[in-house]
Amino acid sequence: MTNLVQVSPRSTNLYAVSSRVDPQSRFFRNGHQGGVLWLTGLSGSGKSTLAVEAEWRLFRQGWQVLVLDGDNLRGGLNSDLGFAPADRAQNIRRAAEVAKLFAQSGFLVITAFISPYREDRRIAGAINGPAFHEVYVAADLAACESRDPKGLYRRARQGQIPEFTGISAPYEEPLAPALRLETARQSVEACVETLLAYVEEAFRLEPAMTAQTASER
Ligand code: ADX
Repeated sequence: MTNLVQVSPRSTNLYAVSSRVDPQSRFFRNGHQGGVLWLTGLSGSGKSTLAVEAEWRLFRQGWQVLVLDGDNLRGGLNSDLGFAPADRAQNIRRAAEVAKLFAQSGFLVITAFISPYREDRRIAGAINGPAFHEVYVAADLAACESRDPKGLYRRARQGQIPEFTGISAPYEEPLAPALRLETARQSVEACVETLLAYVEEAFRLEPAMTAQTASER
């Protein structure tokens, strides 16, 4: 199914304003690049748990880091959206645009959205370009349903929650994620360690490079 979203502006006569502070300067000051770690997986797979734990540890190490979580955004910016495919597409598009703003301002953004459709994730990736890193929080339905931290699977099985991902709505697994976390087989601690090692490798800037470039400016 194609999830149609408005991707080109409806307004005309727009003139983009350029900042005098370019993203690279922000990255050098922080000692790390900005970017988006896009966690995708079933409800109950551990996305929010991993995102919040990684955020906490990185923050204490001095990183500019922020979690964007589906449940939270749906209470505010996306409070007009439900769970039909077109609503999820809009939810993911807006989340990706918000993530981009923070990533360009130097933040490492860790997102936690089910984002069940490949096409929606492709659009999120296109919005963010190379700064976008897809992370598959891989726990199968049986594992998520046995955890059922919010009791939602039980209610979905009883027919009380329509279009519930994994039960009455699809989840399309990533075909080539940048990173795969096996949350059904490994502990939270082990998965966070894997995630943080990936972050260091992908986003940390060499101290020498940062210092040199800062002095040149
Ligand atoms: S997404 O599919 O559009 O990416 P998102 O991550 O924002 O979803 O929100 C998922 C959260 O909404 C779940 O963690 C759960 O608490 C809640 N939820 C409520 N109804 C549904 C539903 N039908 N399918 C999935 N999640 C739901």
